[in-house]
Amino acid sequence: MSETNSSPQIICISSGKGGVGKTSFTINLAAALAGKARKVLLIDGDLGLANVDIMLGLNVTHTLREIVEEGRDPLEILVEVMPGFFVLPASSGVPEMASLSYEEQAFLTESLEQIIGNFDFVLVDTAAGVGDSVLWFNNWAGRNFTILSPDPTAMTDAYALIKIMKTRYQKTEFHLIINNVKSRKEAQEVFANMSAVLENFLGVKPCFQGAIPQDSAVSMAVRRQKPFLVAQPQARASLAVMEICNKLLA
Ligand SMILES: Nc1ncnc2c1ncn2[C@@H]1O[C@H](COP(=O)(O)OP(=O)(O)OP(=O)(O)O)[C@@H](O)[C@H]1O
Ligand SMILES: [Mg+2]
Repeated sequence: MSETNSSPQIICISSGKGGVGKTSFTINLAAALAGKARKVLLIDGDLGLANVDIMLGLNVTHTLREIVEEGRDPLEILVEVMPGFFVLPASSGVPEMASLSYEEQAFLTESLEQIIGNFDFVLVDTAAGVGDSVLWFNNWAGRNFTILSPDPTAMTDAYALIKIMKTRYQKTEFHLIINNVKSRKEAQEVFANMSAVLENFLGVKPCFQGAIPQDSAVSMAVRRQKPFLVAQPQARASLAVMEICNKLLA
């Protein structure tokens, strides 16, 4: 693999609440960026319940666990999904991986930093919640994407995550993605509500990164184990992810 960039953009995708669409979005953003000739590394940061490999129908032999436990070179673990789109798979059902010690986290970050210079973008799909791994992946990343849906609990959980990142790690820049919306108007309303709360209580002014409509192409693609952007490039969700991708590249 040739060297492309010594400092890629590291983007962490989190939500607080589970099941709001982090993994679906991240896989498709990676496919969109790769389609624009960028080299992308998608790290499955859901260390206890990994499912990037399942959603992509990958045959995985090695996982991120071996980096931590055996010191394996991360380059040996990468799986190429399509030209320019690589996945670093994690393991599922290994509770120790979900609660790495401080030393293990530092070792993992150090190992990852040795390979990320090969990529233009590093995307980290994190677990739900505000556990240790979610927080340190978010702290490691240069850019923080927070996904929420119009569901009030998704909004309160996204707020809780942003509050922790601001108070504990002094992060102040957050990019919001509103998923599963019925209309642009609904996305604008959710963003306006969330912005008002973040500004009032935390002094944080979030950026609107984009919105993704509720679309059966998304759940169909999960079942078919293919990115919806590839299976149905003209679907409304695909066009929305392309818009987010173009905004990122602008
Ligand atoms: N825009 C959308 N339209 C329709 N269905 C969606 C949309 N986004 C996500 N979904 C569905 O929601 C479910 C959860 O998505 P996904 O696994 O990506 O969420 P997650 O945030 O990664 O979950 P977890 O917190 O468990 O990791 C999937 O079945 C997916 O098909
Ligand atoms: Mg997920």
